[in-house]
Amino acid sequence: MHNSNDMMINEIVAKFNELYQQEPVVVRSPGRVNLIGEHTDYNEGFVLPAAIDKEVYFAIAPTNTDTFRAYSYDMKEDASFDLNQIRPSQTAWANYLLGVVAQFQKAGHQVQGFDLVFGGNIPIGAGLSSSAAVECGLAFALNHIFGFNVEKFELVKMAQRAEHEYAGVKCGIMDQFASMFGKEGHVVKLDCRSLDYQYYSSDLDSYRIVLCDTQVKHSLASSEYNTRRQECEAGVAILHKHYPQVKSLRDVTLQMLEQHKDEFEPVIYKRCLYVVSENNRVEEACHNLEQGDLQAFGEKMYLSHAGLQHDYEVSCPELDFLVDQTRNDDDVLGARMMGGGFGGCTINIVKLAELENFSRRIEAAYEQQFGRKPQIYVAQIVDGSSLAQQEIAVN
Ligand code: GLA
Repeated sequence: MHNSNDMMINEIVAKFNELYQQEPVVVRSPGRVNLIGEHTDYNEGFVLPAAIDKEVYFAIAPTNTDTFRAYSYDMKEDASFDLNQIRPSQTAWANYLLGVVAQFQKAGHQVQGFDLVFGGNIPIGAGLSSSAAVECGLAFALNHIFGFNVEKFELVKMAQRAEHEYAGVKCGIMDQFASMFGKEGHVVKLDCRSLDYQYYSSDLDSYRIVLCDTQVKHSLASSEYNTRRQECEAGVAILHKHYPQVKSLRDVTLQMLEQHKDEFEPVIYKRCLYVVSENNRVEEACHNLEQGDLQAFGEKMYLSHAGLQHDYEVSCPELDFLVDQTRNDDDVLGARMMGGGFGGCTINIVKLAELENFSRRIEAAYEQQFGRKPQIYVAQIVDGSSLAQQEIAVN
């Protein structure tokens, strides 16, 4: 683990000691990147994410009361809730926690009182899934301190439902899955229909995964996200009439789409064309990884971006600019926007020896164009949600 992450844990534990005069259990839960396979998860397709060393930490302990008290280290705000009346709150950050508590209760688990301090270093709104990290971390922590024995995959689904019901985003399963099932040094391909998954080494040889954060957070993101979902369903409904076996875009081929193109509104057609092509790309890209063909992998990333920009229409000028900057750069194998879109980060495969030059070039170009600096991170791939190593001095 990184020193700055260790320091963060120490601060959170110290705050817990100060507020609640108890010793907590400490859980960590990471954000994620996604190499390829965007907006495919809720279409029962394929994704290729990994957990990264931007994390949320939870200091938590049971209290034998009916109340859950929480302190958000990042917001410097506290809140307290009656466990007999869990419902969505006006306090936005608390909803991710409440949503998880509600899922345990719905599943018939007796959630007793607990105290919590949580916080971390996943930039919010950057498309690195800080909300999934919070949901998965609390689900992991409650499961641990109360010994509920819920299976990890079930925790993932509970975390996803928390997002649906308490944050109002009808997200797919990728972010919560990646936060919980990440594995150090690996990316993981998930089949979002069967939930089968396979790890691939993320050793990119002389290359690294680099994130360029536009620092743009478009408020459009969640409403447009839900609209995209509906547009995909509209496409499925058209094809289902001709092919009863078609239950989601996962079942659709490019030939089927082409054949019935004139029955589609142009926008719906473009959305479906993107998703079907992207699913094919994930499979090919995994093949490229197996063969060690990073060049071909990178090309798929550019194609993915083009589809997200023109057909799925979830990019924005800042993301397009950052991707365009890399096109003729010999030190970059591939780049694309990542996550839900309308802001957040691009993900880039950059030559290790040229990282500094790359950062300098892209920062200067972005600043000249938009008058602000992008944030640049090298993503280290880590394990999914777990107890934090507590060999650290607590006091
Ligand atoms: C968000 C959602 C995910 C996924 C991505 C797009 O991160 O939470 O489920 O749909 O957008 O790939």
